[in-house]
Amino acid sequence: MDDRPETVGEALETARRVLRLHSETAALDAQVLLAHILAKPRTWVLIHPEARLTLSQQDALRAALARLREGTPLPYVLGAWEFYGRSFDVGPEALIPRPETEHLVEAALDWLRARPGVRLAADAGTGTGCIAVTLAAERPSLRLVAADISPAALHLARRNARRHNVASRLDFLRADLLTAFAPRSLPLICANLPYIPTGTLRRLEVYGREPTLALDGGADGLELIRRLLAQAETRLALGGLLLLEIAASQGESAPRAARKVFPRARIDLLPDLAGHPRLLRIQT
Ligand SMILES: C[S@@+](CC[C@H](N)C(=O)[O-])C[C@H]1O[C@@H](n2cnc3c(N)ncnc32)[C@H](O)[C@@H]1O
Repeated sequence: MDDRPETVGEALETARRVLRLHSETAALDAQVLLAHILAKPRTWVLIHPEARLTLSQQDALRAALARLREGTPLPYVLGAWEFYGRSFDVGPEALIPRPETEHLVEAALDWLRARPGVRLAADAGTGTGCIAVTLAAERPSLRLVAADISPAALHLARRNARRHNVASRLDFLRADLLTAFAPRSLPLICANLPYIPTGTLRRLEVYGREPTLALDGGADGLELIRRLLAQAETRLALGGLLLLEIAASQGESAPRAARKVFPRARIDLLPDLAGHPRLLRIQT
């Protein structure tokens, strides 16, 4: 395969052929890759197929394609990925932010909009910090505690907080879920925890490409979510909100687990754009 295409059009086609091995959106991803290498907007790439790549751009493309062929996800090759309209630093130490998690952010912002007095939230399992940083950026009166068990992920989250000028309102905490928080201290808890059953994970393409610590939810996928629910019972403030991203297959088991811990709470599921239940909302 020709890794030294000379025009943008040829480069897009070469990149698309490599990307389709791992991506369902290969054409779009190829545009994102070219835009990154050329330091141009994606639309520029689309309307200039005849533009010529410099030798150093050809070299950069060749290096990127080699990594993609080895199975490195495109966001790790780029070192950045977009979430809720902002670019986040990403790396193999944390999960790549996913569009479905934007629904969790949206639900948190909706709830906060109706409660201007709420000044504190926690993001358990913060990874790149995409949830905590976005909430801080969208709500200038909010402070957040971003917790993760992985020091490397916390390092990345800190970088993203600085990148988006919200570091002064974020505290980073190395902690096992919510163990470090005081009783009834949190009006809002957000968490996108690992929720893939161990046995399923090993069969998925994502296995080995993104950190297992960010994906493996134990035997039935709900181990961390159950532990978080148990810890949230005493830490969530009265009248508070707990938002949890779940797998589409957990639409019955996750609310059942939540009901055991919060028998009097309002518990509902919010669907993603495809209609799958992906967000569990618990209001006490
Ligand atoms: C699915 S990733 C989500 C990352 C980020 N919140 C997002 O939405 O992209 C889950 C995160 O939980 C962290 N994690 C796993 N076990 C944890 C634990 N026991 N306590 C705190 N964080 C944990 C992982 O390191 C990982 O960063």
